[in-house]
Amino acid sequence: MTLRLGVLVSGSGSNLQSIIDAIHSDRLDAEIKVVISNVPEVRALDRAERAGIKALCVDHREFDRREEFDERLRRLLVEHDVEWVVLAGFMRILTSRMLEKFKNRVLNIHPALLPAFPGTDAARQAIERGVTIAGCTIHIVDAGTDTGPILAQAAVPVFPEDDSATLTARIQEQEHWLYPRLLQCISEGRLRLQNERPVLVGLPPASGMIRSPNIPENEVHGEEAPT
Ligand code: GRF
Repeated sequence: MTLRLGVLVSGSGSNLQSIIDAIHSDRLDAEIKVVISNVPEVRALDRAERAGIKALCVDHREFDRREEFDERLRRLLVEHDVEWVVLAGFMRILTSRMLEKFKNRVLNIHPALLPAFPGTDAARQAIERGVTIAGCTIHIVDAGTDTGPILAQAAVPVFPEDDSATLTARIQEQEHWLYPRLLQCISEGRLRLQNERPVLVGLPPASGMIRSPNIPENEVHGEEAPT
């Protein structure tokens, strides 16, 4: 079933681009009905226009109250016949009114393995905490910040020499892989409610183990192990 998407953005729009590219190359059965940014003149709006997609800016600073901004967004999404709301680097928190209208149909991608490191600067938080495996999470948006039901995750190693920029780049590569594929699963009807919990069904289980650092079985390369 062709998904009717509304994509909300605030910045560079590389995730939006990965969705556009997947649609153009027939890897994703979806149509982006509208792209809305809360920040004027961002690259994401250019990307949408270049792809011939309706691109709008609704500047949140022009609204006195969060609810009014949300109401404007909600109206635009409804007017454009949007069925699924895809947050792709959208830096505003949505109010419950919007979430009620699109119940269980607002998705977000976050650059961490939730529930670790919600909020901003997730890659920096991960490095400061010394994690050795990081990643990204796609979840359904609820009233909290990065708290809704988790649908899909991808993990990447963190190397000792990483800074927030190198780690973010590694995570984003996985985001661009994951978001279109998750959306395609939804278009195939794989997202179901089980005991009121949204889950993806009919996919093979992940196999094996993710290790970081990847320590070989019987030796440590490069250095003598301490005695
Ligand atoms: C992504 O890393 C996403 O996880 C976070 O914001 C970033 C958006 O990047 N929510 P882009 O605008 O898609 O390039």
